[in-house]
Amino acid sequence: MIRVKVQDLISQIGDLPTLPSVASRITQEMKNEALTAKMLGAIIEGDTALAAKVLRLANSAFYGLQKQVTSLDKAVMVLGFNTVKNLALSVSIHALFKGRPDSPIDVDGLWHHSLGCAVAAKVIIEKVDKKLNDDAFLFGILHDIGKIVFINARPQDYEKILLLMREKGLPQSEAEMEVMEFTHQRAGSLLLDSWKFPDSIILAVKYHHDPELKTAKIEPKEKDLIRALFLGNQLAKALHLGKSTNPVREEIPKTVWQALNIKRNEIKDVASAIQGNYELLLQAWNMEG
Ligand SMILES: [Fe+2]
Ligand SMILES: [Fe+2]
Repeated sequence: MIRVKVQDLISQIGDLPTLPSVASRITQEMKNEALTAKMLGAIIEGDTALAAKVLRLANSAFYGLQKQVTSLDKAVMVLGFNTVKNLALSVSIHALFKGRPDSPIDVDGLWHHSLGCAVAAKVIIEKVDKKLNDDAFLFGILHDIGKIVFINARPQDYEKILLLMREKGLPQSEAEMEVMEFTHQRAGSLLLDSWKFPDSIILAVKYHHDPELKTAKIEPKEKDLIRALFLGNQLAKALHLGKSTNPVREEIPKTVWQALNIKRNEIKDVASAIQGNYELLLQAWNMEG
């Protein structure tokens, strides 16, 4: 059923971006349930620059390892398989946010917003369930990927969306529907489906502006992740981490604070943890060599 919708997206919007090769090999093996730690290391090492970056990030103050790791095998052993896998996916996916001189938006700003949202979602979910933190990070990286779909295929039309938001005060989803007949959250989730990503991330991207989750039948763990992603997105905007195409902050429903177990007097601490972690990650991310 969902296949047909991907076809709708392609016929309405145009060609979809291609998943970079390392990410594509990782997701393919994940889908076959054949991805071992050894295989993951080999796929990452197939791209020297990417491997070096993953290793540098693994050794950064963001992860705060006591002892530096010198190989990907060791990184997997110390940080865990899921951390290294999602880090490699994130580094690989960064390529989609680069080299768009004709873009109507600041794509690098959108990348940094995504990185900010990734850090924020990770920090937030750690209070609920530490095991979900690597997924929260990757969800943050990918949450606005639908915007890349739009910018890629129809950059001029994306300008119309921005104009409708700015000059007519239309909410983002309405402006997107008017111009593209798709919201970026739907476009993003369909893209991830066509890339064969797991259902949990497809769902999270689809609902990242809809944290009440009243209509959807979703597992509790998944709900926590979606709400952490929603809140991370809003906090990334509030803290000016990167630049979203939509500066308007959404109201955060009570249910979100409650589900994520964040009390009013803790918000300041959460925000400063996000800010601090973002700076640590950015330092390592932007380091050359
Ligand atoms: Fe979004
Ligand atoms: Fe966003």
